[in-house]
Amino acid sequence: MSKQKIALVTGGTGGIGTAICIALADQGRKVIAGYFPPEKEQAYAWKQKHRADGYDFEIVACDVSDFESSQQMLLDVENTIGAVDILVNCAGITRDKTLRRMTPEQWDAVLRTNLDSAFNVTRHVVDKMSENGFGRIVNISSVNGQKGQFGQANYSAAKAGLHGFTKAVAQELAAKGVTVNSVSPGYVKTEMTDAIPAEVRESIIQQVPMGRMASPDEIAYVVSFLTDDRNTYMTGANLPVKAGLGARLFFGPGNAISLDGHRTWRYCVEAGESGVIFYTYAPGKRHLCCSAQ
Ligand code: CAA
Repeated sequence: MSKQKIALVTGGTGGIGTAICIALADQGRKVIAGYFPPEKEQAYAWKQKHRADGYDFEIVACDVSDFESSQQMLLDVENTIGAVDILVNCAGITRDKTLRRMTPEQWDAVLRTNLDSAFNVTRHVVDKMSENGFGRIVNISSVNGQKGQFGQANYSAAKAGLHGFTKAVAQELAAKGVTVNSVSPGYVKTEMTDAIPAEVRESIIQQVPMGRMASPDEIAYVVSFLTDDRNTYMTGANLPVKAGLGARLFFGPGNAISLDGHRTWRYCVEAGESGVIFYTYAPGKRHLCCSAQ
């Protein structure tokens, strides 16, 4: 029987992080949740709560915005539990403000916690993963890293940066059995989105074709798919999990555009984060023509 693989989830005690820890444990992984050092008490309470539910999570303190703290945490984990096989970079914060009111501290805090952290932590796992010929790295980005968001120049920039980081590191590790992918959640029901002003939140939900936010489990499921041992050929990819948010329909010029009377459509282009898809239409039918990234 192969050894139980070890998964580290930074921000593991948070909303999406908790769901990821549960999904990975359900997949048979030994799960370690990273928490922000000042939140020690809450982290221990979190551990106890989940132990009562049958989940024996380890917890480790680490300020992922700091290179040395991340290095020390990985050393401790390696010495006490073992080398990390699966890393999910999930730690993240918001400091929302329009650019004209954003302070350098708000910019720095978000860039350091949401983007530098991926470098700080990943840097210390890649050698062992490469040596072992197995590794799964998943960076939790955001739909806002691709579409941008009013009031989130810092967050959108950091999350967009994670895409570049993912694609570059994926290339460097592709020959070593280590895959590197990102997941871009849309709006997920967590404390982070609870903090959005109610009227703004409502207007965002109205733009989601499914008309609701995601539950953290819906994001965690995709992470567990990416980290599965059998998922060996997918790397450098970004999986948007956003219920169609941001996908738009464009119609060919000269066509009568009516959502009800679609028999008159000739062609249609759907543009979203995953690329552009061209469709042709015949009465009552929709044919995929081609798609491009
Ligand atoms: N579009 C257009 N206008 C908007 C707007 C929007 N989305 N949001 C706010 N405004 C308007 C305000 O009504 C206000 O208008 P007036 O000046 O006419 O009154 C103006 O923009 C700016 O308002 P403020 O002076 O209050 O600006 P501020 O610098 O304090 O910023 C804000 C306010 C932080 C942007 C606040 O509106 C807010 O929190 N918005 C939500 C931001 C958001 O969506 N965050 C996502 C968090 S969840 C997440 O990040 C997870 C994920 O990955 C998806």
